[in-house]
Amino acid sequence: MLITFEGIDGAGKSTQVKKLKKFLMEKGHEVLTLREPGGTIVAEKIRDLLLASKHDITPIGELLLFSASRAELVQNIIVPELQQNRIVILDRFYDSTTAYQGYGRGLDLETLRQINAISSFGLKPDVTFFLDISPEDALIRKFSEKSIPLAFEQSELDRMESSGLAFYQRVREGYMKLVETNERFILLDAGDEPQEIHNKIIQKLAPFCSNKQKKPMQSEKREKF
Ligand SMILES: Nc1ncnc2c1ncn2[C@@H]1O[C@H](COP(=O)(O)OP(=O)(O)OP(=O)(O)O)[C@@H](O)[C@H]1O
Ligand SMILES: [Mg+2]
Repeated sequence: MLITFEGIDGAGKSTQVKKLKKFLMEKGHEVLTLREPGGTIVAEKIRDLLLASKHDITPIGELLLFSASRAELVQNIIVPELQQNRIVILDRFYDSTTAYQGYGRGLDLETLRQINAISSFGLKPDVTFFLDISPEDALIRKFSEKSIPLAFEQSELDRMESSGLAFYQRVREGYMKLVETNERFILLDAGDEPQEIHNKIIQKLAPFCSNKQKKPMQSEKREKF
């Protein structure tokens, strides 16, 4: 079973991934959590390139680097894990590409659809949790996390985080379009308490995860791109 988490930076994805992993492992499931970009030696090097704020990267270059990192992760790790009937939880997947490079940077959505299909080898998440938060509230969280005073130094933020509030607003709206048009998305209010969000997540997953013997839903199926 493949579960993905999406949302703008600071929405609380990593917090929920950690909680869900603990919960599922306590239930006796074998769980692997991975973050995008990264997850293999090559993919982690690409991650460094993408997030180091000193490098300028063109939007197309950024798209292809994210996609290259994804292809490494899917082929080398995710597919073999799913074949072993393990639960894989991803902190971001190709919906991030659609939201950030498509709606955020303005790249052609049809091109992205094709590149996403290639980089993921057609793999489709069984369920995708979208944690919704305003860019302003997310930024406040990031500030307090990094102990940055509100009159902040731009250099304290990574390359993606420095893209500005208008960019994040477009990304958020892009995610909302994905929620509206894809059944696998579950919309969650990221402003709720972490435990409350977690409870909603396990409620949604109950039909699939309550019994360790249950078959995975549809990770074997291919995305209909
Ligand atoms: N529901 C919540 N309410 C309030 N604060 C939260 C909540 N969830 C997470 N946080 C806090 O917000 C900050 C960002 O959370 P987290 O790192 O989980 O977000 P993220 O979506 O993984 O961000 P990034 O995309 O930058 O990795 C952390 O300091 C975390 O403790
Ligand atoms: Mg995170």
